[in-house]
Amino acid sequence: MSTTHQWRGLIEEYRELLDIPAATPAITLGEGGTPLVHSEWLSGVTGGDVWIKVEGANPTGSFKDRGMTAAISVAVHEGAKACVCASTGNTSASMAAYAAKAGLTPIVLVPDGKISASKMAQALVHGAQVLRVRGNFDDCLKMSRGLAEHYPVALVNSVNPVRLEGQKTASFEVVDRLGDAPDFHLMPIGNAGNMSAYWLGYTQYLAAGKATRTPVMRAFQAEGAAPLVLGRPVEHPETRATAIRIGNPASWKLAEAAKAASGGRFKALSDDQILAAQAELARRDGIFVEPASAAGVAGLLADVAAGDSYAGKVTVITVTGHGLKDTVTALEYFGEVPDVVVDADIDAAAAAAGLI
Ligand code: F0G
Repeated sequence: MSTTHQWRGLIEEYRELLDIPAATPAITLGEGGTPLVHSEWLSGVTGGDVWIKVEGANPTGSFKDRGMTAAISVAVHEGAKACVCASTGNTSASMAAYAAKAGLTPIVLVPDGKISASKMAQALVHGAQVLRVRGNFDDCLKMSRGLAEHYPVALVNSVNPVRLEGQKTASFEVVDRLGDAPDFHLMPIGNAGNMSAYWLGYTQYLAAGKATRTPVMRAFQAEGAAPLVLGRPVEHPETRATAIRIGNPASWKLAEAAKAASGGRFKALSDDQILAAQAELARRDGIFVEPASAAGVAGLLADVAAGDSYAGKVTVITVTGHGLKDTVTALEYFGEVPDVVVDADIDAAAAAAGLI
């Protein structure tokens, strides 16, 4: 009798490749196994083959679930009762969900007024203790580290190396799907854990003989929050892409190392470039992502405009979070809900829709 393979969540799918204790239970919501969607639009723009890794398809709507299944599972294995993170919104949403599943108490530190309403709702609905901090993400991260040092709570920000173990599986999935690593991998970067994790995954697959090469890594920041591009921390980061509003990335050194080893680079984009790419991706490819998540697509377009060639190459772009994560920014930028209201009448609807 044949059975269809059902995805079991990334710990069970990749357990032997993860550096976590053997007896770690899998606290899973079925994360990972996300779509790799071919983009006819961007393939046409570049003359190459462009694929979009759609991380908004994870259970809480962002790539953070990959790291969180690992971090919360190991925290449970080690006997934790509570967990803490600093967040621009997605990490807290994810931690709250996995903590709920595991029966841990989630404590979340967010910059006051600077996370989207949807992400705040996720943390609250999953039962997190949400502390709004007078300060930015970097301040929250310092507090989160301090709390974990002095109180009995497990730190699950990506400074916890177990987070990267989970997140590196996205590279495994790309190679498993394409048959080899791509030539280029593009993505947004904020606290720099994700790029570091992808690089870890790609180099591990190369060493294991599952890929013949590693990609060039290119990561993109918002102009107002571009410490990696400037080469120094930014004291007051500002961008409408609030998920990457970070001035002093924790995994700075790891991301620099990935950039250097892969022959990659960091580049900054304006908020307008990022938001325009968000709209184009939604309209041309049918993929709705949150503003920060569009930075890789905006980066590809900016690179092509600057004369860089992706022709004849395989490029993967990670879009990190779902568009429903921040509908307020989307509606502010792309126009209001139309104020035309029609009668409940087919001909009136046809006229209003321009069909007659
Ligand atoms: N895209 C989204 C949607 C994010 O939420 C983040 C980070 C990034 C990109 C950048 O990834 O930090 O690994 O370089 N969000 C964190 C949070 C900071 O708290 O949710 P990174």
